[in-house]
Amino acid sequence: MRTLVTGGAGYVGSVVAAQLLDAGHEVVVLDDLRRGHRAAIPPGASHLELSLDDAHALQERLGGGFDAVLHFAALSLVAESVEHPERYWRNNVGGTRNLLDAMRTHGIARLVFSSTAATYGEPETVPITEDQPPAPVNAYGASKLAVDLMLRDECVGHGLAATSLRYFNVAGASGEQGEHHEPETHLIPLILQAAAGKREHIKIFGTDYPTRDGTAVRDYIHIEDLGDAHLLALDHLTAGEHRIYNLGTGDGFTVREVIEASRRVTGEPIPAIEEARRPGDPPALVADASRAREELGWNPSRGLEDMIADAWAWHSAHPDGYAD
Ligand code: UFG
Repeated sequence: MRTLVTGGAGYVGSVVAAQLLDAGHEVVVLDDLRRGHRAAIPPGASHLELSLDDAHALQERLGGGFDAVLHFAALSLVAESVEHPERYWRNNVGGTRNLLDAMRTHGIARLVFSSTAATYGEPETVPITEDQPPAPVNAYGASKLAVDLMLRDECVGHGLAATSLRYFNVAGASGEQGEHHEPETHLIPLILQAAAGKREHIKIFGTDYPTRDGTAVRDYIHIEDLGDAHLLALDHLTAGEHRIYNLGTGDGFTVREVIEASRRVTGEPIPAIEEARRPGDPPALVADASRAREELGWNPSRGLEDMIADAWAWHSAHPDGYAD
Protein backbone atom coordinates (compact mmCIF):
# COMPACT_ATOMS: atom_id res chain seq x y z
CA MET A 1 0.00 0.00 0.00
CA ARG A 2 1.23 3.54 -0.65
CA THR A 3 0.71 5.38 2.63
CA LEU A 4 0.98 9.00 3.74
CA VAL A 5 2.01 9.37 7.39
CA THR A 6 1.39 12.88 8.70
CA GLY A 7 3.50 13.65 11.76
CA GLY A 8 5.86 10.83 10.81
CA ALA A 9 8.80 12.71 12.39
CA GLY A 10 7.12 12.57 15.80
CA TYR A 11 7.21 9.91 18.50
CA VAL A 12 4.24 7.73 17.54
CA GLY A 13 4.20 8.60 13.84
CA SER A 14 7.84 7.65 13.30
CA VAL A 15 7.38 4.24 14.94
CA VAL A 16 4.29 3.49 12.88
CA ALA A 17 6.10 4.67 9.72
CA ALA A 18 8.89 2.17 10.48
CA GLN A 19 6.38 -0.61 11.13
CA LEU A 20 4.60 0.14 7.83
CA LEU A 21 7.93 -0.09 5.98
CA ASP A 22 8.72 -3.39 7.73
CA ALA A 23 5.36 -4.71 6.62
CA GLY A 24 6.22 -3.89 3.00
CA HIS A 25 4.24 -0.69 2.57
CA GLU A 26 5.49 2.44 0.86
CA VAL A 27 5.70 5.43 3.22
CA VAL A 28 5.72 9.15 2.57
CA VAL A 29 6.09 11.21 5.76
CA LEU A 30 4.38 14.60 5.77
CA ASP A 31 5.87 16.69 8.57
CA ASP A 32 6.78 20.37 8.82
CA LEU A 33 9.33 19.55 11.58
CA ARG A 34 7.81 22.20 13.85
CA ARG A 35 7.73 19.66 16.68
CA GLY A 36 9.08 16.56 14.93
CA HIS A 37 12.68 15.54 14.31
CA ARG A 38 14.21 14.92 10.90
CA ALA A 39 16.35 12.15 12.41
CA ALA A 40 13.23 10.30 13.57
CA ILE A 41 11.98 9.71 10.01
CA PRO A 42 12.84 6.08 9.30
CA PRO A 43 15.25 5.31 6.46
CA GLY A 44 13.21 4.12 3.52
CA ALA A 45 10.46 6.72 3.96
CA SER A 46 10.42 9.81 1.80
CA HIS A 47 9.71 13.20 3.34
CA LEU A 48 7.28 15.90 2.31
CA GLU A 49 8.15 18.97 4.38
CA LEU A 50 4.78 20.59 4.48
CA SER A 51 2.38 22.01 7.03
CA LEU A 52 -1.27 21.02 7.29
CA ASP A 53 -1.97 24.76 7.63
CA ASP A 54 -1.13 25.16 3.97
CA ALA A 55 -4.37 24.08 2.31
CA HIS A 56 -3.21 25.12 -1.15
CA ALA A 57 0.05 23.15 -0.99
CA LEU A 58 -1.79 20.11 0.38
CA GLN A 59 -4.18 20.19 -2.56
CA GLU A 60 -1.19 20.28 -4.91
CA ARG A 61 0.98 17.66 -3.22
CA LEU A 62 -1.43 14.89 -2.22
CA GLY A 63 -1.71 13.51 -5.73
CA GLY A 64 0.42 10.51 -6.56
CA GLY A 65 -1.84 7.64 -5.74
CA PHE A 66 -1.95 7.29 -1.97
CA ASP A 67 -4.07 4.37 -0.78
CA ALA A 68 -4.37 5.52 2.81
CA VAL A 69 -3.42 8.23 5.29
CA LEU A 70 -2.27 7.68 8.88
CA HIS A 71 -2.74 11.01 10.60
CA PHE A 72 -0.54 11.84 13.61
CA ALA A 73 0.42 15.47 12.97
CA ALA A 74 -0.93 17.49 15.90
CA LEU A 75 0.01 19.64 18.84
CA SER A 76 -0.22 17.47 21.97
CA LEU A 77 0.75 19.37 25.10
CA VAL A 78 -2.16 19.58 27.50
CA ALA A 79 -0.84 22.60 29.44
CA GLU A 80 -0.07 24.52 26.26
CA SER A 81 -3.57 23.78 25.01
CA VAL A 82 -5.06 25.42 28.10
CA GLU A 83 -2.92 28.52 27.68
CA HIS A 84 -3.22 28.78 23.89
CA PRO A 85 -6.42 26.97 22.86
CA GLU A 86 -6.51 28.75 19.49
CA ARG A 87 -3.35 26.92 18.44
CA TYR A 88 -5.05 23.59 19.08
CA TRP A 89 -8.24 24.45 17.25
CA ARG A 90 -6.36 25.94 14.31
CA ASN A 91 -3.67 23.29 14.02
CA ASN A 92 -5.41 20.08 15.08
CA VAL A 93 -8.90 20.80 13.79
CA GLY A 94 -8.21 23.26 10.94
CA GLY A 95 -5.21 21.24 9.78
CA THR A 96 -7.26 18.06 9.67
CA ARG A 97 -10.00 19.86 7.73
CA ASN A 98 -7.41 20.85 5.10
CA LEU A 99 -6.11 17.28 5.00
CA LEU A 100 -9.59 15.79 4.51
CA ASP A 101 -10.37 18.27 1.71
CA ALA A 102 -7.15 17.38 -0.10
CA MET A 103 -7.80 13.66 0.40
CA ARG A 104 -11.24 14.04 -1.16
CA THR A 105 -9.81 15.94 -4.13
CA HIS A 106 -7.40 13.09 -4.78
CA GLY A 107 -9.79 10.22 -4.07
CA ILE A 108 -7.98 9.00 -0.92
CA ALA A 109 -10.72 7.36 1.09
CA ARG A 110 -8.98 5.55 3.97
CA LEU A 111 -7.75 7.15 7.19
CA VAL A 112 -6.41 6.04 10.58
CA PHE A 113 -6.41 8.86 13.11
CA SER A 114 -4.40 9.36 16.29
CA SER A 115 -7.00 10.24 18.94
CA THR A 116 -6.63 10.21 22.71
CA ALA A 117 -8.04 9.22 26.08
CA ALA A 118 -8.13 12.96 26.75
CA THR A 119 -11.44 12.98 24.82
CA TYR A 120 -13.02 11.31 27.89
CA GLY A 121 -11.92 14.00 30.34
CA GLU A 122 -12.24 12.93 33.97
CA PRO A 123 -14.45 9.84 33.88
CA GLU A 124 -16.10 8.67 37.07
CA THR A 125 -15.80 5.01 36.25
CA VAL A 126 -12.82 3.02 35.04
CA PRO A 127 -11.99 1.02 33.01
CA ILE A 128 -13.16 3.26 30.20
CA THR A 129 -15.03 1.82 27.23
CA GLU A 130 -15.63 3.65 23.96
CA ASP A 131 -19.27 4.12 25.05
CA GLN A 132 -18.22 6.44 27.86
CA PRO A 133 -19.56 9.89 26.87
CA PRO A 134 -16.75 12.17 25.75
CA ALA A 135 -16.19 15.15 28.06
CA PRO A 136 -12.78 16.67 27.40
CA VAL A 137 -11.47 19.08 30.02
CA ASN A 138 -8.84 20.87 27.94
CA ALA A 139 -8.41 22.19 24.40
CA TYR A 140 -6.13 19.30 23.46
CA GLY A 141 -8.82 16.72 24.23
CA ALA A 142 -11.52 18.96 22.73
CA SER A 143 -9.60 19.40 19.48
CA LYS A 144 -9.11 15.63 19.13
CA LEU A 145 -12.78 15.01 19.86
CA ALA A 146 -13.73 17.62 17.26
CA VAL A 147 -11.72 15.66 14.69
CA ASP A 148 -13.39 12.40 15.74
CA LEU A 149 -16.77 14.05 15.09
CA MET A 150 -15.58 15.50 11.81
CA LEU A 151 -14.52 12.02 10.71
CA ARG A 152 -17.88 10.56 11.67
CA ASP A 153 -19.61 13.11 9.43
CA GLU A 154 -17.10 12.67 6.61
CA CYS A 155 -17.74 8.92 6.61
CA VAL A 156 -21.50 9.45 6.34
CA GLY A 157 -21.34 12.28 3.81
CA HIS A 158 -18.50 11.16 1.59
CA GLY A 159 -18.01 7.44 2.21
CA LEU A 160 -14.66 7.86 3.95
CA ALA A 161 -13.39 4.79 5.80
CA ALA A 162 -11.92 6.04 9.09
CA THR A 163 -10.78 4.75 12.45
CA SER A 164 -9.91 6.83 15.52
CA LEU A 165 -7.49 5.18 17.93
CA ARG A 166 -7.74 6.61 21.45
CA TYR A 167 -4.39 6.20 23.13
CA PHE A 168 -3.90 5.97 26.86
CA ASN A 169 -0.32 6.59 28.14
CA VAL A 170 2.17 5.66 25.45
CA ALA A 171 5.70 4.78 26.56
CA GLY A 172 8.85 2.95 25.51
CA ALA A 173 10.94 3.03 22.38
CA SER A 174 11.37 0.95 19.25
CA GLY A 175 14.88 0.38 17.93
CA GLU A 176 16.12 3.70 16.58
CA GLN A 177 12.86 5.49 17.36
CA GLY A 178 12.24 6.99 20.77
CA GLU A 179 10.52 9.76 22.69
CA HIS A 180 11.96 13.28 22.50
CA HIS A 181 9.57 16.09 23.37
CA GLU A 182 10.46 19.66 24.14
CA PRO A 183 9.45 20.52 26.72
CA GLU A 184 9.23 16.99 28.18
CA THR A 185 6.20 16.61 30.44
CA HIS A 186 5.65 12.82 30.46
CA LEU A 187 6.31 10.74 33.53
CA ILE A 188 8.58 7.96 32.23
CA PRO A 189 11.04 10.13 30.24
CA LEU A 190 11.29 12.50 33.24
CA ILE A 191 11.95 9.58 35.60
CA LEU A 192 14.68 8.36 33.23
CA GLN A 193 16.24 11.83 33.15
CA ALA A 194 16.43 11.62 36.94
CA ALA A 195 17.91 8.11 36.66
CA ALA A 196 20.55 9.46 34.28
CA GLY A 197 21.41 12.29 36.66
CA LYS A 198 20.06 14.93 34.28
CA ARG A 199 17.60 16.14 36.88
CA GLU A 200 17.88 15.97 40.64
CA HIS A 201 14.64 14.15 41.29
CA ILE A 202 11.25 13.24 39.93
CA LYS A 203 8.29 15.16 41.29
CA ILE A 204 5.26 13.12 42.28
CA PHE A 205 2.25 15.26 41.44
CA GLY A 206 -0.37 14.49 44.07
CA THR A 207 -0.26 11.95 46.90
CA ASP A 208 -3.86 12.37 48.09
CA TYR A 209 -5.73 10.69 45.24
CA PRO A 210 -8.27 8.01 46.15
CA THR A 211 -5.99 5.25 44.81
CA ARG A 212 -4.07 2.38 46.43
CA ASP A 213 -1.04 4.51 47.34
CA GLY A 214 -2.46 8.02 46.92
CA THR A 215 -0.82 8.68 43.54
CA ALA A 216 -2.53 8.81 40.15
CA VAL A 217 -3.15 5.65 38.14
CA ARG A 218 -2.50 5.43 34.40
CA ASP A 219 -2.61 2.70 31.77
CA TYR A 220 0.81 2.60 30.09
CA ILE A 221 1.03 1.04 26.65
CA HIS A 222 4.22 0.11 24.79
CA ILE A 223 4.76 2.14 21.62
CA GLU A 224 5.26 -1.04 19.56
CA ASP A 225 1.98 -2.58 20.76
CA LEU A 226 0.30 0.75 20.04
CA GLY A 227 1.85 0.82 16.57
CA ASP A 228 0.60 -2.71 15.82
CA ALA A 229 -2.97 -1.51 16.33
CA HIS A 230 -2.53 1.02 13.51
CA LEU A 231 -1.59 -1.63 10.97
CA LEU A 232 -4.51 -3.78 12.10
CA ALA A 233 -6.86 -0.79 11.89
CA LEU A 234 -5.66 -0.12 8.36
CA ASP A 235 -6.66 -3.68 7.42
CA HIS A 236 -10.11 -3.34 8.94
CA LEU A 237 -11.33 -0.07 7.38
CA THR A 238 -14.79 -0.08 5.81
CA ALA A 239 -16.12 2.57 3.42
CA GLY A 240 -18.68 4.84 5.07
CA GLU A 241 -17.82 3.67 8.61
CA HIS A 242 -16.11 5.52 11.43
CA ARG A 243 -14.83 3.28 14.21
CA ILE A 244 -13.32 4.20 17.57
CA TYR A 245 -11.00 1.99 19.62
CA ASN A 246 -9.36 2.53 23.00
CA LEU A 247 -5.73 1.44 23.14
CA GLY A 248 -4.36 0.51 26.54
CA THR A 249 -3.46 -2.71 28.32
CA GLY A 250 -6.25 -2.51 30.89
CA ASP A 251 -3.66 -2.53 33.72
CA GLY A 252 -3.27 0.62 35.78
CA PHE A 253 -0.07 1.63 37.60
CA THR A 254 0.35 4.39 40.15
CA VAL A 255 3.07 7.03 39.83
CA ARG A 256 4.90 5.43 42.75
CA GLU A 257 4.73 2.01 41.07
CA VAL A 258 6.20 3.43 37.87
CA ILE A 259 9.06 5.00 39.83
CA GLU A 260 9.68 1.70 41.67
CA ALA A 261 9.68 -0.24 38.39
CA SER A 262 12.13 2.29 36.95
CA ARG A 263 14.46 1.83 39.93
CA ARG A 264 14.41 -1.93 39.34
CA VAL A 265 15.04 -1.61 35.59
CA THR A 266 17.79 1.03 35.73
CA GLY A 267 19.41 0.07 39.03
CA GLU A 268 19.52 3.79 39.86
CA PRO A 269 18.15 5.27 43.09
CA ILE A 270 15.89 7.91 41.34
CA PRO A 271 15.12 10.39 44.13
CA ALA A 272 11.45 11.40 44.29
CA ILE A 273 9.81 14.35 46.02
CA GLU A 274 6.12 14.86 46.72
CA GLU A 275 4.32 17.84 45.23
CA ALA A 276 0.75 19.09 44.95
CA ARG A 277 -1.55 17.66 42.29
CA ARG A 278 -1.03 18.93 38.74
CA PRO A 279 -4.24 20.81 37.79
CA GLY A 280 -6.53 18.80 35.52
CA ASP A 281 -5.04 15.36 36.24
CA PRO A 282 -7.77 12.77 36.85
CA PRO A 283 -7.14 10.19 39.62
CA ALA A 284 -7.32 7.16 37.33
CA LEU A 285 -7.41 6.51 33.58
CA VAL A 286 -7.47 2.86 32.55
CA ALA A 287 -8.67 1.53 29.22
CA ASP A 288 -11.16 -1.17 28.50
CA ALA A 289 -9.66 -2.17 25.16
CA SER A 290 -11.81 -5.26 24.57
CA ARG A 291 -13.25 -3.79 21.40
CA ALA A 292 -9.80 -3.48 19.78
CA ARG A 293 -8.90 -6.98 20.95
CA GLU A 294 -12.11 -8.51 19.61
CA GLU A 295 -12.62 -6.58 16.38
CA LEU A 296 -9.03 -5.92 15.31
CA GLY A 297 -7.43 -9.01 16.85
CA TRP A 298 -5.05 -6.69 18.72
CA ASN A 299 -3.00 -8.32 21.44
CA PRO A 300 -0.66 -6.02 23.37
CA SER A 301 2.05 -8.15 24.93
CA ARG A 302 4.64 -5.85 26.50
CA GLY A 303 4.55 -4.89 30.17
CA LEU A 304 5.56 -1.80 32.11
CA GLU A 305 9.14 -2.99 32.71
CA ASP A 306 9.58 -3.67 28.96
CA MET A 307 8.49 -0.08 28.23
CA ILE A 308 10.87 1.35 30.80
CA ALA A 309 13.76 -0.89 29.67
CA ASP A 310 13.29 0.05 26.01
CA ALA A 311 12.96 3.75 26.83
CA TRP A 312 16.07 3.51 29.06
CA ALA A 313 18.06 1.85 26.25
CA TRP A 314 17.00 4.58 23.82
CA HIS A 315 17.71 7.42 26.25
CA SER A 316 21.10 5.90 27.09
CA ALA A 317 21.97 5.70 23.39
CA HIS A 318 20.58 9.21 22.71
CA PRO A 319 21.24 11.20 25.90
CA ASP A 320 20.28 14.45 24.20
CA GLY A 321 17.41 12.96 22.20
CA TYR A 322 17.44 13.34 18.43
CA ALA A 323 20.30 15.43 17.07
CA ASP A 324 18.15 16.99 14.36
N1 UFG B 1 3.41 12.92 36.75
C1 UFG B 1 4.13 13.13 37.90
N2 UFG B 1 5.32 13.81 37.77
C2 UFG B 1 5.78 14.28 36.58
C3 UFG B 1 5.01 14.06 35.41
C4 UFG B 1 3.81 13.36 35.54
O1 UFG B 1 3.77 12.73 39.00
O2 UFG B 1 6.84 14.91 36.56
C5 UFG B 1 2.14 12.15 36.87
C6 UFG B 1 0.95 12.91 36.35
O3 UFG B 1 0.41 13.73 37.33
C7 UFG B 1 0.04 11.76 35.91
C8 UFG B 1 1.02 10.65 35.50
O4 UFG B 1 2.26 11.00 36.08
O5 UFG B 1 -0.68 11.31 36.99
C9 UFG B 1 1.21 10.55 34.00
O6 UFG B 1 1.51 11.85 33.50
P1 UFG B 1 1.93 12.12 31.99
O7 UFG B 1 2.17 13.59 31.86
O8 UFG B 1 3.03 11.19 31.61
O9 UFG B 1 0.67 11.67 31.17
P2 UFG B 1 -0.85 12.17 31.31
O10 UFG B 1 -1.60 11.01 31.91
O11 UFG B 1 -1.00 13.46 31.97
O12 UFG B 1 -1.17 12.44 29.80
C10 UFG B 1 -1.47 11.44 28.89
C11 UFG B 1 -1.04 11.85 27.51
C12 UFG B 1 -1.76 13.08 27.06
C13 UFG B 1 -3.24 12.86 27.19
C14 UFG B 1 -3.58 12.41 28.58
C15 UFG B 1 -5.02 12.03 28.70
O13 UFG B 1 0.35 12.08 27.52
O14 UFG B 1 -1.44 13.36 25.73
O15 UFG B 1 -2.83 11.26 28.91
O16 UFG B 1 -5.48 12.45 29.92
F1 UFG B 1 -3.89 14.01 26.95
